[in-house]
Amino acid sequence: MKGLLLSLGLVALFALCAVCAQSDIPVQPDFQDDKIVGKWYSIALASNFDWFLPNKQNMKMYTAVLTSTADGNFEGVSIHPNSDRCEKKTLKYFKTDQPGRLHTEIQRSGQDIDVRFVETNYEEYAMMSMRNTNGPDVYTSVTLFGRGKELRPELLTKFRNFSLEQGLGEENIRIMPQTDQCMTEA
Ligand SMILES: *[C@@H]1O[C@H](CO)[C@@H](O)[C@H](O)[C@H]1NC(C)=O
Repeated sequence: MKGLLLSLGLVALFALCAVCAQSDIPVQPDFQDDKIVGKWYSIALASNFDWFLPNKQNMKMYTAVLTSTADGNFEGVSIHPNSDRCEKKTLKYFKTDQPGRLHTEIQRSGQDIDVRFVETNYEEYAMMSMRNTNGPDVYTSVTLFGRGKELRPELLTKFRNFSLEQGLGEENIRIMPQTDQCMTEA
């Protein structure tokens, strides 16, 4: 009986910690909106969103251009190399009270997404997290962006460490293979 109670207690503790870890995603201190805009390359992605695993093996590096909009928010246009064409995706990101923390919606799936710039030095790399805030299941994505197509290995290690801390596994990580396809569209 005692053993059973102990096990239940541990299960409850782990459940609690899963919840506390979720609300605990950091944001780059002193985040500066005007420095994050511009063109980025997707260096790596870690995700457990339902679309990730089925598509993982086909994913290649894509470009994303972030701009400020007239209403004071952001728009992101990404160009994804598909088998024979470049697929353009546009997302509007709305600011929140906290600089570096944004909100978007994925209309196709009806998901509300909390978006955070976890860490960036603006000139070299940016690590961004996305997590849905509605629906029964919680999905997480971590994307590592670079101003160029390559980043220092320490930054990839930092990305991997952070992704694993968010509860993602090695199978959820894709280092994007470089391609020349669609790189100059944006
Ligand atoms: C990644 O995690 C390892 C093991 O915990 C640690 O030794 C290393 O310093 C971390 N690296 C970075 C760049 O965060």
